[in-house]
Amino acid sequence: MAVSLGKNWIWSKTCKRSLANHTPQQEKLQGSAPHGRSLFGRRIGRPLSTQKKETMDRLLPVLSIPEEKLDQAGTLPPSSLFNQDFSDFWLEIGFGYGEHLAALARKNPDNGYLGAEPFINGMAALLTDIENKPCENIRVMMNDAMILARSLGNETLQGIYILNPDPWHKTRHHKRRIVNRSNLDIFYRILQPGGLLILTTDVEPMAEWMVTQASLHPGFQWKAKTSKDWLAPPPDWIATRYETKGAKNAKKMCYLFFQKTDK
Ligand SMILES: C[S@@+](CC[C@H](N)C(=O)[O-])C[C@H]1O[C@@H](n2cnc3c(N)ncnc32)[C@H](O)[C@@H]1O
Repeated sequence: MAVSLGKNWIWSKTCKRSLANHTPQQEKLQGSAPHGRSLFGRRIGRPLSTQKKETMDRLLPVLSIPEEKLDQAGTLPPSSLFNQDFSDFWLEIGFGYGEHLAALARKNPDNGYLGAEPFINGMAALLTDIENKPCENIRVMMNDAMILARSLGNETLQGIYILNPDPWHKTRHHKRRIVNRSNLDIFYRILQPGGLLILTTDVEPMAEWMVTQASLHPGFQWKAKTSKDWLAPPPDWIATRYETKGAKNAKKMCYLFFQKTDK
């Protein structure tokens, strides 16, 4: 069973009914990624310029979450990663070139931001930005975000962004999709009560997949009441590079906000 967002991507009562009728067996058929591996895409694109390599050498060791902290099986407090106190902590999974993460961090200097991105060129772009315009409230990890997510303590994050995750179109690759039941369990654990899971995509089947997976999870509630709520970004939205490219091609972006509720 999957949620259909309809020809015009209109959320319908039928979708809500079909969700209500799901069985655990059907849920299983939706596919859960095997434990341990969530990283499948490319890690390097064009060779880095000498300048970018130097920036990586300088900043990556300073801003990276230390490996020994990633071994803390569900106990890592994000506050231990920074030199100053922050009120809330947020995580961006797969930040691409980092423009969304950097803009968010600059806009909200009282919050601490964690970003995970295995793509070296993306990390180099973010670090170059930070070097040009310093920003004290970001820590990064150049690896699978789920390693970090598994390490974080219970209820330590105010929100998680997963913007335009790889859609893995082929059916046999659906299990690679980062929004899946076992990862949702981890997101649920590390989010504070009322915390947000923010997902975007311009790929219709991916939107349907993410709505289905998150809505089937007993701990998340989709905040949308009408299609207007997910077809337009909130007023203060920061667009990613991918999103701007997609918008140029006149594809529809989809903004899906889920809130952690009591199970
Ligand atoms: C389509 S891109 C979107 C990038 C960015 N969020 C944006 O909207 O511009 C998907 C990104 O997710 C990253 N990614 C894929 N699997 C990941 C994982 N397990 N942990 C962290 N990042 C991941 C990829 O390297 C890629 O940069």
